[in-house]
Amino acid sequence: MNQLKLILMLTAFVILASCKENPATPTGTVTEKAMVVSAREEASKIGSDIMEKGGNAFDAMVATEMALVVAYPFAGNLGGGGFMVYRKADGEVGALDYREKAPLSAHKDMYLDSLGNVIPGKSTLGATAVGVPGTVAGIIEVHKKFGSLPLEEIMTPVIALAERGVVVTANQEKRLASQRDKFIEVNTDSTKFATVFKTNDTIKYPALANTFRSIATYGRDGFYKGEVAKKLATFIQEKGGYVTEEDLEKYQAVWRDPISFDYKDLHIISMSPPSSGGVTINQIFKMMEKHDVAKLGHNSPKMVQLFTEASRRAYADRNYFLGDPDFVEIPYDRLLSDEYLTERMANFSFDKATKSSEVEHGNIEIVESMETTHYSIVDQEGNAVSVTTTLNGAYGSKLYSDELGFFLNNEMDDFSAKAGVPNMFGLVGAEANSIAAEKRMLSSMTPTIVERDGKLWMVLGTPGGSTIITAVAQTILNGYEFKMSMQNAVNAPRFHHQWLPDMVIFEPDGFSAELKEELKSKGYIINEERTPIIGKVDAIRVLANGKLEGGADKRGDDAAVGF
Ligand code: GLY
Repeated sequence: MNQLKLILMLTAFVILASCKENPATPTGTVTEKAMVVSAREEASKIGSDIMEKGGNAFDAMVATEMALVVAYPFAGNLGGGGFMVYRKADGEVGALDYREKAPLSAHKDMYLDSLGNVIPGKSTLGATAVGVPGTVAGIIEVHKKFGSLPLEEIMTPVIALAERGVVVTANQEKRLASQRDKFIEVNTDSTKFATVFKTNDTIKYPALANTFRSIATYGRDGFYKGEVAKKLATFIQEKGGYVTEEDLEKYQAVWRDPISFDYKDLHIISMSPPSSGGVTINQIFKMMEKHDVAKLGHNSPKMVQLFTEASRRAYADRNYFLGDPDFVEIPYDRLLSDEYLTERMANFSFDKATKSSEVEHGNIEIVESMETTHYSIVDQEGNAVSVTTTLNGAYGSKLYSDELGFFLNNEMDDFSAKAGVPNMFGLVGAEANSIAAEKRMLSSMTPTIVERDGKLWMVLGTPGGSTIITAVAQTILNGYEFKMSMQNAVNAPRFHHQWLPDMVIFEPDGFSAELKEELKSKGYIINEERTPIIGKVDAIRVLANGKLEGGADKRGDDAAVGF
């Protein structure tokens, strides 16, 4: 943490300096034409190399997503799902939903005992927690619609990486060690991940390379049908789970309209339900828009207050109204109308904190897992891709198929197992997010693209469960209101409020004692213990001269690579 502390302190100084400049001088990696920023350098490089070979941002999406399965198994996945928001060079925007689904046999009470109580662990650990994976359908759909290079060519370096292996970083050693007991509990001690891996060891994935070959040769059928599907469904069921071959065969990724809105002279494009990201970030920005945010000052008491109060109100709506749009009616017109949002902020005052108990739907708490991963891509033509993908928890359900070489998600825990009862991460959901066969569980993932003056300006997103939305919003504000470079906007210390629990969560480093005292005096409850970091943003800013600046989060091993 000492290195992180130093980075955050230096960042605070650089931010003060850069706030005076307009536009901000880049401080992150700058490239001429194209860039990938992801959680691991190996994945960013494979994506960038695909573009250097003539592929576009969508080809690079396929390559980067697959490379993260190898380089970042913590969240990169074949056994999970995700969301992509894109903006083509001609300004066309869209979104792809490849979120996991509940299996056909799923039902509302599947995680409850005979007395109607939630059975601990059943939706979080092992095969019973696994939803139908969407990632392979996602990449194949992207490739089919927008890809320019043959799938086999895109998969070749990924297969080579799986065979060559990836060097364990210090962060990875810690993450693997912290989950090893669970890997053994779920998979027995014969699993690959019962091994103690140390920094600088190389982990090779020959079984995964074979699964990749099946996908490279047969496309979606190489995963959702035939030998791989049979092995996968049999494995999950033998371990007590519900996913069948029929579930796999029926899975489809869905193209959706993104949530798009203006904030001052920005145009923000973000993910629509079943992710809550776009709707919630839209509400937060619109509730703040009437204020001169730049004048309040970066992370000043008033800026923290305004952001907190907007977030409090937006998150109160989030879990009550949002769910899979194919199953629930979402009142977008009302939730996103100026009239409603003005009304929501009517009782806001800089003099004192609003109590969350005074905000409607006060019995819903949201605390989600901090895992997941994000990557941002811009290609030489100006196409932009923003993707957040997840297994939900760290290494998902911890269920690892040694035969196929990948972890399975525990995304079923993102449903509300029982309205009003918190899941493993404290999330308490409402009816809109109850379980049903083939329904998608609500997400917070917020892959986002920002236009400024009608042109591509920023591509960003982050892991962090419910903190994803506020981390993305603060990064945009850092760049726009506080005129920071991309890297500084990513490095800047972050805070979070999500209505319930009624506390402002701060990263432990980077906020002054005076700021916290002032907030306390106005009735805010401060928490610095809940999490050492908030999000791990990976972003790209398009500079005035057309070059690209990466913002690779120093909180992890993240890296920007391009040319
Ligand atoms: N599983 C985390 C999310 O979807 O928000």
